[in-house]
Amino acid sequence: MRISVIGCGYLGAVHAACMAKLGHEVVGIDVDERKIADLSAARAPFFEPGLEDLLREVQATGRLSFTTDMAAAVGNSVHFICVGTPQKKGENAADMTYVDAATAGLLPHLSPGDVVVGKSTVPVGTAARLAAIVKDAQPEAHLLWNPEFLREGHAVSDTLQPDRLVYGVTGGSEDHDAVQILDRVYATPLEAGVPRLVADLPTAELVKTAANSFLATKISFINAMAELCDAAGADVTVLADAIGLDDRIGRKFLNAGIGFGGGCLPKDIRAFMARAGELGADQALTFLREVDAINMRRRIRVVELTRELCGGSLLGQRVTVLGAAFKPESDDVRDSPALSIAAQLQLQGAVVTVTDPQALQNAARRFPELHYEESTDAAIHRADVLLLLTEWQEYRDLDPYETAAMVASPKVLDGRNVLEHHKWRAAGWTYRGLGRP
Ligand code: UDX
Repeated sequence: MRISVIGCGYLGAVHAACMAKLGHEVVGIDVDERKIADLSAARAPFFEPGLEDLLREVQATGRLSFTTDMAAAVGNSVHFICVGTPQKKGENAADMTYVDAATAGLLPHLSPGDVVVGKSTVPVGTAARLAAIVKDAQPEAHLLWNPEFLREGHAVSDTLQPDRLVYGVTGGSEDHDAVQILDRVYATPLEAGVPRLVADLPTAELVKTAANSFLATKISFINAMAELCDAAGADVTVLADAIGLDDRIGRKFLNAGIGFGGGCLPKDIRAFMARAGELGADQALTFLREVDAINMRRRIRVVELTRELCGGSLLGQRVTVLGAAFKPESDDVRDSPALSIAAQLQLQGAVVTVTDPQALQNAARRFPELHYEESTDAAIHRADVLLLLTEWQEYRDLDPYETAAMVASPKVLDGRNVLEHHKWRAAGWTYRGLGRP
């Protein structure tokens, strides 16, 4: 099939490459010339495992190209909208500027029978609004909503082998013409047995925000338990293992720590609350306010624990932060709890050094006032306290004896509860986890 992918960020670049991998002819379109130049040269504009290899592989077939020219969508039959929906400045609601602009830019290039497929995470009601605009411009074109559930760091495999495919169509019927077209797009995963659900437009939009809200709630639940464990002298990691063995609960997303961040969960739950308010259903989501509040308290807790570890004052203390990305295997620092904690500590008088295997450039752009070190050894050298805030494998693998020889004082705060605390304590470290005695 001939496909356009509009928006080539974390979602669109991966989607375009994966669609070409599935055998389609794909053009990726974005307004950012640098991004397009990078992608055209098979360079990923951000760190995502497997993406560059995939770009090289599919570009060699001639099935994938990138451009800034929206007219390249002409002649394609399926157009995916993959642009961002960040949080509006000073508000909880989602900023729809990019989705609206992408749709408006596409309209003059639509032909009868074309299918516009929204993938961006949007406030419920957006798809119906855009479907009407598409129908006005091209009465024989359709708009579908096909939410994306990919995780950064696993984006390629999540796109090629998703857990499920959700199609939102006007009316929610399997018989809608566009369902067959999307089935052809996803023929390979469907043949492999990936479940497919057809829903009406608002349900499809809600599936995405509901899924992200559930994940955020699960993380905040375990972080609330961590607060209790701290108060009661219990261990939240054992508690999570024990409740996680109940398969109604499950162990995934029960890792207590510094909380969730990134370009999705924080802004998505806020936009969901804002939208529920507009719909007069705000009470249904007041619990998400608490989810957000628990999450933000984690950052304060880490700052307080670091102060304790430093003997009551952060002034002049050399604090080394291991990890700046919002999670490992990513260079994304959007709403990264690690960076936000680093910046707080610096504001409160600590001398903070941040290191990360991939995210330093992005981090320096966001917080230029922090000191960054590429080398882990150099960052650790003469530290008064180490903070493990993003659980990259290389930090999990640190040897407590060798590391102790490098620091000024062997004190570590394990913000992700991933270090073997017995080993670190045996090596002479003062170890603090979150929600662990
Ligand atoms: C998320 C959803 O998982 C994905 O389905 C959706 O499409 C986009 O949003 P992503 O933002 O890539 O994906 O990250 P995810 O792996 O969900 O992690 C989010 C945050 O939660 C990270 O900061 C991570 O460190 C944190 N987290 C995750 C925890 O603190 N504890 C956990 O147990 C799991």
